[in-house]
Amino acid sequence: MSEFLELLDKIEKEALAAMETAADKIGLESATNAFLGRKGKLAELSRQLGALDGTLKPKAGARMNEIRGRLSEIAEVKSRQFAEKNKSGSEIDYTLPGRRSFVGRRHPLLQTVDLIVSIFRGMGFSIASGPDIETDFNNFDALNTPEDHPSRDLSDTFYIDKGIVLRTHTSPVQIRTMLSQKPPVRIIAPGRCYRSDAPDASHSPVFYQCEGLYVDEEVTFGDLKGVITAFARELFGPRIKVRFRPHFFPFTEPSAEYDFSCVLCGGGGCRVCKNSGWLEISGAGMVDPEVFKAVGYDTEKHSGYAFGMGVDRITMLRYSIGDIRLLYDNDVRFLRQF
Ligand code: PHE
Repeated sequence: MSEFLELLDKIEKEALAAMETAADKIGLESATNAFLGRKGKLAELSRQLGALDGTLKPKAGARMNEIRGRLSEIAEVKSRQFAEKNKSGSEIDYTLPGRRSFVGRRHPLLQTVDLIVSIFRGMGFSIASGPDIETDFNNFDALNTPEDHPSRDLSDTFYIDKGIVLRTHTSPVQIRTMLSQKPPVRIIAPGRCYRSDAPDASHSPVFYQCEGLYVDEEVTFGDLKGVITAFARELFGPRIKVRFRPHFFPFTEPSAEYDFSCVLCGGGGCRVCKNSGWLEISGAGMVDPEVFKAVGYDTEKHSGYAFGMGVDRITMLRYSIGDIRLLYDNDVRFLRQF
């Protein structure tokens, strides 16, 4: 047999072995290319065909075609096998759990604000707001707070400038609202407040309140109790009780502090309510006539109630958070839980 035909036999064997041992699709492709490709071994040999003598030439040509056909057939079959293997999962494990993408969410305080707002909206209140930086007229004077009241002290209030403070409560929104509209008024005003308190588990120099104000004709303390009780039950469930204790605020008369029965122990006494069965929420009362005078409302014709509430406290109760500072640290490991 001619040398050339022997060479073809040898190359066929090599090619079959290389394709047989290819471990994956890429290995198979490079083996196929090495023999069948444009610069592969067979292409190289076919360039020598012309130099062969007359009887050998057709034989060698036919043999080369045979080898080409066989190798391409094998390449196709094997490549299909690799594709199947992939699909059945032996190379990629489709049962592995995916990586969870981290989606942002609303801060727990703002989730509570949203809930409070939606409850009061349902009772016909609309939303009012004011700036964090206030005049001391809106924050104190118009709210009937005497010049020498301790809450005005530098040790309690952050002063930005003479006569300009970081609001110490949301009550100045009462003044802004009444100065800009006539009765009836029915608003709530959630927002940030500031006091010069050293931070600890229950104090933060920045905190949230939600103010409520209702002014109309013949508004009574009974209306106030009704609205606070309805709110408490909507928020914490129908078994919550509300109690009012006499208190003093310069801008309401009479004034009260109000408590909810403990949402954790139901009133029996536990660590959270310090065994009293009650949780202090905030203050409330009937709008003092001095406040109506400051905003130009008719004290004979109009009466109203106002209330505040501590949004931080309510958030901490809703989610069993033991330290108010967690709400302001912005530690994503904490915030992710809500
Ligand atoms: N502003 C009062 C406080 O910060 C709460 C309050 C609001 C009391 C409205 C009475 C009426 O403690």
